Amino acid sequence: MNSTKKATLSFSDGTPSIDFPIYEGTVGPEVIDIRKLYGQTGRFTFDPGFMSTAACDSKITYIDGDKGELLYRGYPIEQLAQNCDYLETCHLLLYGELPNRAQQKDFEFRVTRHTMVHEQMTRFFQGFRRDAHPMAILVGCVGALSAFYHDSLDINDPEHRRISAIRLIAKMPTLVAMAYKYSNGQPFMYPQNKLSYSANFMRMMFGTPCEDYEVNDVLVRALDRILILHADHEQNASTSTVRLAGSSGANPFACIAAGIATLWGPAHGGANEACLQMLDQIHAQGGIAKIGEFISQVKDKNSGVKLMGFGHRVYKNYDPRAKLMRETCYEVLGELGLNNDPLFALSMKLEQIALEDDYFVSRKLYPNVDFYSGIVQKALGIPTSMFTCIFALARTVGWIAQWNEMISDPEQKIGRPRQLFVGSTRRDVKPIDQR
Ligand code: CMC
Repeated sequence: MNSTKKATLSFSDGTPSIDFPIYEGTVGPEVIDIRKLYGQTGRFTFDPGFMSTAACDSKITYIDGDKGELLYRGYPIEQLAQNCDYLETCHLLLYGELPNRAQQKDFEFRVTRHTMVHEQMTRFFQGFRRDAHPMAILVGCVGALSAFYHDSLDINDPEHRRISAIRLIAKMPTLVAMAYKYSNGQPFMYPQNKLSYSANFMRMMFGTPCEDYEVNDVLVRALDRILILHADHEQNASTSTVRLAGSSGANPFACIAAGIATLWGPAHGGANEACLQMLDQIHAQGGIAKIGEFISQVKDKNSGVKLMGFGHRVYKNYDPRAKLMRETCYEVLGELGLNNDPLFALSMKLEQIALEDDYFVSRKLYPNVDFYSGIVQKALGIPTSMFTCIFALARTVGWIAQWNEMISDPEQKIGRPRQLFVGSTRRDVKPIDQR
């Protein structure tokens, strides 16, 4: 990267000032390259939570949090959600361009050829308790894939990386559906490759060997949209985890397992599960009549209660994915004759009240994608405990595209943050009876 712009850092203690190059992206904030700061001054920057730190350059996803804009490889999420399916979106994220008809056919063929998991994988499932959280199962089983595919673990070989990417995208629906079937005691369903990616997943989730599974196009389209909306979101916690794990040279299956573990947290992918639990709780306590009381709790800092599905580190405007998800929510509830769903009514009222309340307005807290995705998933018949697994399934392509971008970068280095040490200085160990 070349730069003519510079930033000058001056010090109040007489240390000579120092210039740093400033780089411009194609869009978005400029960055100050501080890589030489420590070498030249012996000082680090301090940025817990990475509030002001760009850890990489990337061509994949761009978010303008103030405008509420999300672009995959330059394309607005609204256009992708309306005109493309999930596998076209995967092609775009992985290879940089939407596929033409021939490329689409080829990509679908390559993905569907890899949808089965090794039969021995079923034994892994049997090692889990039936009441295990499906995310616990998923972390374990995705990590375990690295024990099965020794032929694609050389991360320096682009062909190995290409096959691993396809394997992960193809096998995630199978593993997620297996985690669900394991929890309810039904037999695992083998993939049906003539179905679309999302229809196949729904069949593996809800079909049984006893009956033919009827594909409902409206519901399949809704699931496909959930997958598109969650496919990538630039350098969020789980993606940064995948990049950090990958920076050490770890294999892609291990890296994606690390991403799944990070996604599980309630401040990240676990929020849709937490959001639906919140709606259930308000509903059980009296529904719309109790919203005022609930909002007062949220505003009381000592209560520890948050309005789940609201707020975002990057979006300081309406999350564009939330708008699309609300639209999908209408479609799905209409299709299933659930227009009077009390949780949907509750969420619409909560949203309306929060958007008018100064607490939320002054902090720029708007609904995020999880505010409506839980209701859609519930209507599709997906149990709450599976929500984050669906998110993980969708995000796998983003993780793998970001991982691949990092490995292909000749300037890539192992990630190694530094610290401000505030603990004890050197001291000597005393014999145990003198401590
Ligand atoms: N309910 C009530 N207050 C909130 C909320 C909320 N959902 N979110 C933020 N705030 C308050 C927060 O208490 C703080 O107030 P103050 O300035 O008085 O201390 C202010 O808003 C700024 O919040 P923050 O915690 O500094 O913001 P952040 O950027 O660190 O956190 C967040 C972002 C997503 C972790 C947070 O908004 C949150 O916990 N939201 C609920 C969980 C959720 O819905 N997460 C899903 C995110 S979208 C899916 C994904 O991409 O993973």
